Amino acid sequence: MEQSQEQQQQQQQKQSDLSSIEARQQKLLQPLEQSVITPEKLEYAKQIIEKDKAIKPFWVNKYKNEAAKNWDRFYKRNETRFYKDRHWIEREFTVYKGKDGEGEDNQPRTLNCLEVGCGVGNFIFPVLERNPNLFMYACDFAPHAIELVKQHEDYKQGRCSAFVCDLTKDPLTDTIAKDSLDVVSSIFVLSAIPVEKLESAVKNIKEVMKPGGMLCFRDYAVYDAAQVKFSSNPGHMLDKNLYVRQDGTMSLFFSINQIKELFEKEGFTTVECDYVHRETINRAMDISIDRRFLQAKFIKQ
Ligand SMILES: C[S@@+](CC[C@H](N)C(=O)[O-])C[C@H]1O[C@@H](n2cnc3c(N)ncnc32)[C@H](O)[C@@H]1O
Repeated sequence: MEQSQEQQQQQQQKQSDLSSIEARQQKLLQPLEQSVITPEKLEYAKQIIEKDKAIKPFWVNKYKNEAAKNWDRFYKRNETRFYKDRHWIEREFTVYKGKDGEGEDNQPRTLNCLEVGCGVGNFIFPVLERNPNLFMYACDFAPHAIELVKQHEDYKQGRCSAFVCDLTKDPLTDTIAKDSLDVVSSIFVLSAIPVEKLESAVKNIKEVMKPGGMLCFRDYAVYDAAQVKFSSNPGHMLDKNLYVRQDGTMSLFFSINQIKELFEKEGFTTVECDYVHRETINRAMDISIDRRFLQAKFIKQ
């Protein structure tokens, strides 16, 4: 049966939609680039965000004080189902590969690492599997998350050690020797901490790092689509660039200056600190979303 002109046009449109989705998906497989968000989109984001207002102080304090409880509930509810394994971290932070011949007898030496706010271990288990010379400490202030890390089939003594710790108040030196770590990763963790507590978290991390050790950082950046979405539905803003999600967990959006200042004030040197841009596709709604993150490497002096 012959197709009507209308049917043919619909089919052509569908094919062109599909190929544009595929083209955009191909882009997702490529390495991250420096932010390329257009000036128009940036201006739109600024306008929406600047109009938003913080909710009542009583609620702001409640969410800040109950952060650990709300994250713990999150893991009790979602268990290991929420986050995907973070294989990309090793691609972005090649430090985990270590250097051959650095230890005694020209053997690779053990790289001592810590993942702060490790959640259920979506980074630590893939990185341990691929790098036999790593030892990984992992901490989180949500006891349910740490329990799930310990139940993981790859949780092996001698390769990793997970413990409950609130970075903003529990000294990491209670578990880890001072000045002992080569690498610390902080992946979407500092954004869960209100600005006024960030300094104590960074000081705490610094205590357990070796001079010359590297901190690998990735987190949400200002004007990310998620921030625009929060500000488009007033009632989520707690402080400037800090928002609360439906489940009571918080999310802060960082600027380059803010994060550099935070680490440099504590005696870190910035090796890299850039906005990275990612277009994510919602296939069901056929819309693209501009994600904007901040990625950085800092060295302890
Ligand atoms: C957005 S999740 C990211 C989890 C994990 N890093 C990942 O990328 O899959 C933020 C994590 O930070 C943890 N967290 C937030 N504030 C913390 C604090 N003050 N001390 C320790 N962990 C904290 C939360 O419990 C949660 O597991």
